[in-house]
Amino acid sequence: MAGLGRAITRMGPGVRRWQSPSPPAETACHAAIMTTPQDAKAAIAGIFGRSAADYEQIGPEFFAPMGRELVRRAAPRAGERALDVGCGRGHCLFPLAEAVGPQGEALGLDLAPAMVEATAAQARARGLSQVKVRIGDAADPEVEPGSFDLVTAGFVIFFLPDPAAGVAAWARALRPGGRLAISTFVAQGVHEQVMKTIGRFIPRDGGDGPKRRVERFRSAEALTAVLVEGGFTGIEHRNVTFRTRFTGPDQWWRWIGSHGGRAALERLPADRLEEARAAAYEVMETARASDGALVLHTEARFTTARLPQSPS
Ligand SMILES: C[S@@+](CC[C@H](N)C(=O)[O-])C[C@H]1O[C@@H](n2cnc3c(N)ncnc32)[C@H](O)[C@@H]1O
Repeated sequence: MAGLGRAITRMGPGVRRWQSPSPPAETACHAAIMTTPQDAKAAIAGIFGRSAADYEQIGPEFFAPMGRELVRRAAPRAGERALDVGCGRGHCLFPLAEAVGPQGEALGLDLAPAMVEATAAQARARGLSQVKVRIGDAADPEVEPGSFDLVTAGFVIFFLPDPAAGVAAWARALRPGGRLAISTFVAQGVHEQVMKTIGRFIPRDGGDGPKRRVERFRSAEALTAVLVEGGFTGIEHRNVTFRTRFTGPDQWWRWIGSHGGRAALERLPADRLEEARAAAYEVMETARASDGALVLHTEARFTTARLPQSPS
């Protein structure tokens, strides 16, 4: 299986480092506030581009059930036009496409070309002609104003340097009465402790914009405020807890490198990598269930909202 075995390279006796196909000058997290918005976007595209092949492929399902839940709450109807911003490998986009059917349209946008290529290839393989996927910025989708019935954003809002501007852009893409459905993290259980532990081995740089926005949007009130500011109404939040079962710490570690967590692994200094991994594995052991699996509980929030039928 792709993952740790491929990602860790022996550098000499006892020395290993996390390897990227093209090592980044900046990573997704710290670039967001340390550099220009263009650099921040390039860093996010880099992290998710390098994780695209492994995204949701490591073992247990994680994003897939959450994507299905988001789409279920968004309640797409046959024939509707849906826009999925930050579509990744399509875990919201494909359920959307099935719901809108061949008479509808599901357009996915992502900053990372490798995500777009992989998702477009999957759409072709599945014969889903209603799916379109292209490189694009969730904060500036460049679509015809008022042309969509529904916008979905699965675990994306915290990657936007200016979430309010993103929400305003989604409102512009929607027709009057159009709906928005977004997901955010509320609590990530033992994974939070694992990432804090890894973070102790990363030199401080004053960055971590997305990490701070994940914290901000743990609050339903913060999310409501940004949606109201964007002109949305009828805002509803529903929290759902998901269980993810890892066969062991190796699988959990590989999984961290298959999504946004990769930003932290790429920032680990080569000479601290094994120490960080050992410390992370120790924390993972606290999730050990009686059947031997490591069980992660993740609480996600699914938020739905709509635009008024006529502009106020
Ligand atoms: C955590 S993944 C979620 C993917 C998918 N929505 C899901 O639920 O599985 C976040 C995705 O958003 C993309 N992304 C982050 N910022 C973006 C932006 N400004 N515009 C478009 N895509 C963005 C990343 O490249 C990545 O594919």
